[in-house]
Amino acid sequence: MSPTKDAGLRVQGLQMRYGAQTVLQGLSLPLLSPGQVHALIGPNAAGKSTLLRGLAGLQAAQGQVWLDGEDISGWAPARRAQRLVYLPQSLPTRTGLAVFEAVLSAAMAGRRGRSADALTQVESVLQRLDLIELASRPLLSLSGGQRQLVGLAQALVRRPRVLLLDEPTSALDLYHQHLVLERVRQEARDQDMAVLTVLHDLPLALARADQVLVLDQGRLLAAGPPAQVIAPALLAKVYRVDAVVGDLAGHPALAVAGAL
Ligand SMILES: Nc1ncnc2c1ncn2[C@@H]1O[C@H](COP(=O)(O)OP(=O)(O)OP(=O)(O)O)[C@@H](O)[C@H]1O
Ligand SMILES: [Mg+2]
Repeated sequence: MSPTKDAGLRVQGLQMRYGAQTVLQGLSLPLLSPGQVHALIGPNAAGKSTLLRGLAGLQAAQGQVWLDGEDISGWAPARRAQRLVYLPQSLPTRTGLAVFEAVLSAAMAGRRGRSADALTQVESVLQRLDLIELASRPLLSLSGGQRQLVGLAQALVRRPRVLLLDEPTSALDLYHQHLVLERVRQEARDQDMAVLTVLHDLPLALARADQVLVLDQGRLLAAGPPAQVIAPALLAKVYRVDAVVGDLAGHPALAVAGAL
């Protein structure tokens, strides 16, 4: 079947480099289906952030990217941003906006609908991410984790077709890590949105992702259901740890005995 017939995001033969250093060398991914959370895992410097920036069109990439059967490889970042929203690993800190204004300005970006709808959507996303009590606080006055949640609210309120998240839970406490992944998963289901999220937290990927993709030195090593992919042999090979993966009261659990 032609790749152009698939709903979702398809990546084939992606090449990306920094000067003479090739980071991705002809990377192809399984179809990133709508309605699902696809976790991108892999060690530091594997090329995860580079891949996300390439998909968002923020960094030059050779190869092909299809969205819902349409070749978007040649699309400029602004055009891609209408359908693919990218949340970077580190968020901008210089802004005078308050939380509500920041999320509202994201909601209004590139939209033609009524602003009354945008106000309702902003309030709703703030509720869902536990942020409503911070609505009038300046972003600069927030903690790192609170700011990360606002960044996610800004991404979700735009209701993209594809959501690209780079370590969206890295600054969050345990409750908010799971809250965020639950909300993102729900949103993916409700809006038929494909989510590609970089995660370093493997138990979180085990518990909350629909599919896991493993990137190592710019290559896709494995992809599939979390419990099949995140297995001791892979953890030894990719992360160089001695680990066991099992079942704890019906939930997937991972314990690391040590570095190899
Ligand atoms: N702006 C840049 N200029 C030059 N090289 C870069 C740049 N950004 C990343 N690299 C290099 O590209 C490779 C992949 O980096 P990338 O940031 O994509 O890794 P990552 O998988 O996101 O890692 P991490 O888990 O640490 O965030 C690394 O070798 C890195 O040093
Ligand atoms: Mg990164």
